Formats: sequence, C-alpha cells, structure tokens
Amino acid sequence: MEIKITKAAVLKEKPDSSTLGFGKIFTDHMFMMDWNKEKGWYNARIVPFENISLHPASTVLHYGSEIFEGLKAYRRKDGKVQMFRPIENIRRMNRSAERLCLPQIPEDLAMEILETFVSLEQDWTPSAEGTSLYLRPFMFGNDESLGVHTVHNATYVIIASPVGSYYAEGINPVKIMIEDEDVRAVRGGTGYAKCGGNYAASNRAGERAARLGYSQVLWLDGVERKYIEEVGAMNVMFKIDGKIVTPMLSGSILPGITRMSCIAVLKEKGFEVEERLLSIDELADALENGKLEEAWGCGTAAVVSPIGELCYKGVKYPVNNGEIGEVTQMLYDTLTGIQWGKIEDTFGWIKPIK
Ligand code: PLP
Ligand code: COI
Repeated sequence: MEIKITKAAVLKEKPDSSTLGFGKIFTDHMFMMDWNKEKGWYNARIVPFENISLHPASTVLHYGSEIFEGLKAYRRKDGKVQMFRPIENIRRMNRSAERLCLPQIPEDLAMEILETFVSLEQDWTPSAEGTSLYLRPFMFGNDESLGVHTVHNATYVIIASPVGSYYAEGINPVKIMIEDEDVRAVRGGTGYAKCGGNYAASNRAGERAARLGYSQVLWLDGVERKYIEEVGAMNVMFKIDGKIVTPMLSGSILPGITRMSCIAVLKEKGFEVEERLLSIDELADALENGKLEEAWGCGTAAVVSPIGELCYKGVKYPVNNGEIGEVTQMLYDTLTGIQWGKIEDTFGWIKPIK
C-alpha cells in the first residue's frame, strides 16, 4: 500500500532534552489510515500533526471502541535510531483489536508503516541519558451512528513524543498501595487487551492512592480480590526467597513486552522464574517473614520501576529498606543497555531505523 507523505511547511523547534516529561510534546507529523468493512484499509498517509475532527456520534466517543500501543525508539551513541521488539507491539495490537472487534492490520503492513513513520520523525529522538521517542499507535471505531454494534469504519493513527522518565522518581523506588476495592479487569473481560477503557476504569483507585502519598496501586484479581495482577499500568515481579515470581497471564493481565523481556533475561542469567498465581496472603507472609527481597514493576514507559514500600489495609511494609535491589538493577541495566545499544543484543530484539 502506498503511504502518501505530506510534509509540514514549518518544522517545530525541538525541545531541550532535560525538560522532557512524558507525552506532552509531539513531533511534526502523524500517520493516519482509514478502514471500512467493505473496502478494508485505505488512504494511508503521513500528514502534519493536527487535531482530529470527529462526527459527534463517532463510536469511540460513546462506546469506547479504542485500543492503543506504546513502544519506543532509542538513539544510540553512534547517532543511529532503533526500536525495541516492535513486532511484539504489532501482534499485541492485533490481539487487542480482535477483542474489541476492531480490524486487524497485517503484520508486514503495520511494520512498514511504523518504520516509514519513525524514519521520517527520527530527528526527534532525543539523545540525553534515559530519553527516547515514545511511539503511540492507536485505533478507534468511527461509525457515525449511535447503534451499538461492531464497527464498520475505523481509523488507525500513530503519534510520537520525545520523552524523559515516566515517574518523577525516575529509577528511584516508588510507594505502592494494595487496592482491595476497585479492580482493573476480570477474566473474560478486556484485561489482556490494551484498550482505553481499562485505563479510564483504573483512575479512581490511582487517585485515591495518590491522595495518600502513593505512586500507584497494586491490583488484585476481580473475582476473589486475592491474587496479585499488576501494578498501576505495569506488570509486577517479586523476588521471594531467592526465586522470581510473577503473576501468570490469566486473561485479565496485560502481556507486557517488558515482562516477557525480563523473563528472558532472568532465565538467561540462571534465575528460576515462576509464572503462577500469587496470593496477597503469600505476599503478606513473605513481607512479614523478611522473605520478600525485591519487588518491581516493568513496562515500556518506566522500563523497570523498583517498589520501595507496599501498603496493605493501612499497614506499611518497606521492601529492601526502600532501596533498589540487585536483580531490579540488573534488569534495568540489561534492558536499557540493549535498548540504547550500549550492550550487544544477543536476543535479536532490536530493529534499526534506516
Ligand atoms: N500492564 C499495563 C496495564 C500496561 O498498560 C502496560 C504498558 O504498556 C504494561 C503492563 C507493560 O507492557 P509493556 O511492557 O508492553 O509496555
Ligand atoms: C508503560 O509503557 O509501561 C505504560 O504503562 C504506558 C502508559 C502510559 C499507559
């Protein structure tokens, strides 16, 4: 498919790398493509970054037919730009699309689009330590009608934002509150899909935690509120009594690409990794008996984020004296090393941009 490129007449000034937050500044262009049930995908185009105009009855505005992805392009020391495991984001997007009855994008086409777009915008990839170009592909249902049904029209968009660290704390340990009221997702629902509605529904608990001085919540399962699922918008891992434990992908957990990469690195380094149900009682027991050695969240935005304190039913438990642990630091160093091209990528995860 031909991608029509219309360049911006005037290019914006690039920001100072030291002032980047997360997702506040956007590049000069965006990718857009439309879909219709009869026609399939059409009108693939890169256009100057601009507002999107929608019919007030557009499906996404009423029934939340929306999915998104998040991945990054990194600038290497030699100036070249590279992406980290983009094929996994493309595959996950198609799985999310299937759940939300949005259209599939053939993998080859999705990759060609991503590479073409990032190649055009690559000058926006910042070079300061810890910075990157965050890529946000998203798709939404765009029928101009209020009937509730699977969509006949959709739009796929990619925008890009030069970013610094996601948390104000950077790689410093964060305080997490265990949420025993709201749940993020249930099996059979949309937990494994990256759809906007999951995030809208999780904000209330996040707000409550923030008011009490916590960065994020630790989610429990939606049926029994017993098993640990995720932390904020990240997957979660624990080092308990020498072993690494992470909740298994049960259907309500997002299959994180950072999670998958951490597991591969841990196994390669000889750690035992258990993907299984982990109950809050088992975790509380490990906390009380000093067996919880480390805890961390993992996701594209923060890479690895150490947990320095867990609060459950009002009781505060420090984790590793509130400091980053050895395994957490090793994972951060290994993943960021591969992402920024500082260490050799023996896994074949890197996709260079031409
Ligand atoms: N869990 C949730 C709910 C997320 O939103 C994300 C972030 O994308 C993750 C986990 C981590 O996934 P990934 O490592 O692919 O960024
Ligand atoms: C992540 O990349 O870890 C995220 O959770 C992305 C977030 C901005 C939705």
